[in-house]
Amino acid sequence: MAKDRLIIFDTTLRDGEQSPGASMTRDEKVRIAKMLEKMGVDVIEAGFAIASVGDFESVRAVAEAVRGSTICSLARTGAEDIDRAAEALRPAESGRIHTFIATSPIHMEYKLRMAPDNVVERAVAAVKHARNLIGDVEFSCEDASRSEYDFLCRIIEQVIDAGARTINLPDTVGYGEPGEYGAMVARLMNSIPNADKAIFSVHCHNDLGLAVANSLSAVMHGARQVECTINGLGERAGNASLEELVMAVRTRADIFPVEVSVDATQIVPTSRLVSSITGFPVQPNKAIVGANAFAHESGIHQDGVLKHRETYEIMRAEDVGWNANKLVLGKHSGRAAFKARLGELGITLDNQAALNLAFTRFKELADKKHEIFDEDLQALMSEVQPAERELRYSFAGLEAISRTGSKPHANIELVIDGETQQASADGDGPVDAAFKAVEMLVSSGANLLLYSVNAITSGTDSQGEVQVRLEKNGTIANGNGADTDIIVASVKAYLDALNLLDAGVLKAHPQRGV
Ligand code: KIV
Ligand code: ZN
Repeated sequence: MAKDRLIIFDTTLRDGEQSPGASMTRDEKVRIAKMLEKMGVDVIEAGFAIASVGDFESVRAVAEAVRGSTICSLARTGAEDIDRAAEALRPAESGRIHTFIATSPIHMEYKLRMAPDNVVERAVAAVKHARNLIGDVEFSCEDASRSEYDFLCRIIEQVIDAGARTINLPDTVGYGEPGEYGAMVARLMNSIPNADKAIFSVHCHNDLGLAVANSLSAVMHGARQVECTINGLGERAGNASLEELVMAVRTRADIFPVEVSVDATQIVPTSRLVSSITGFPVQPNKAIVGANAFAHESGIHQDGVLKHRETYEIMRAEDVGWNANKLVLGKHSGRAAFKARLGELGITLDNQAALNLAFTRFKELADKKHEIFDEDLQALMSEVQPAERELRYSFAGLEAISRTGSKPHANIELVIDGETQQASADGDGPVDAAFKAVEMLVSSGANLLLYSVNAITSGTDSQGEVQVRLEKNGTIANGNGADTDIIVASVKAYLDALNLLDAGVLKAHPQRGV
């Protein structure tokens, strides 16, 4: 029997970015969106257009860059929000406005301070307004899992009549339990008279660790869209993770009555890209994308796998993109091969100057490191793409001295507003000394919230990839830097974060206010 299609709606760029500290720049969002497009994700929620100028531009840039997926912007129910979303989505081949309002008694009374009748009125007006601007409108009943059943029936019937094509039932606070949540979806779909005119969708948060279970239960009960994020990023404990949902449906095709059209081999590369851009490492035991997800430690398991893989493996690592880090290029590779490989990774450079800069950096790296992997290219592009903008701070040189028994010391050279400047400092370690020397020159006053370093590939000649998260006056910036010298990578990441803070803007939050 033919199976129904399950729509994969990825919200890494919107709800994922609501993870405290996970802010992404416009160019980073476009890179992630291109990977999601390559993966075959059906809908990409690119942002919340009215939140800030940066969010608006990100939605627009993603709408311009992506062709294969529907691009969506979140909007509250106000006309201004919806107009802004429509405006940002104008370049999209296929665009969707996702409007929402809270429907639970607690949210209506204390957050919105609105009577239920007014909430219905507002929701209907929002959907009608959005439908005048775009053909594809989704409506979410925020906090649906704590909303009253009769009220949900009433508002959903009316927004479907007003033109909503997708009805989303978020478990906003992660309170749902799989049996109860699935039953709610089935009951609503069976009793709302016009339910067949819309696709029912779920959006689950992971506060009790049940986001994927709740989403899958809803799928068993009739939901045909799941909202999810790469690596389960998202507000608080995160959202249902895309990789877990997709692989559960694929691996248990004997149970789930749906199929997904995602290219699962793009999962691991996309997970790595999201982790490197946001600075949120993936825990080693994370399902599907954790470093240990396919590693067998026990002798009995290893023996079993060698004799017959299916004894202990329910999925094949290569099917989700492990082992995909091919040796792609080397010292003798030419510009055409370099450009072609970037294209395969979903990275396009729109001008010759950017390509020249990227190619020069690639040759410099190839001189230091014989084998260049896809991950090296991704890291290199994180550095090159910001360089297309005017940057206030850039790295010029570094000497770090670290000797057992004496205080680590760093001499640093930066270019600040076009002028070369030098400083020296001692520190608790060479990275600390280098950061102190940078601060002697920039006096940023920023707080360091996170410092993390990872080897991009294996081997001691691997590049170190560093993430630095800085905060200043409520604005958060995640900087990335990569180099075969991890102290240099650290300083580059610090300067990247400073440059982002320099350009930073505060944004509104979708779940605060009407
Ligand atoms: O969690 C939630 O309720 C949301 C909505 C805005 C869809 O993110
Ligand atoms: Zn959410």
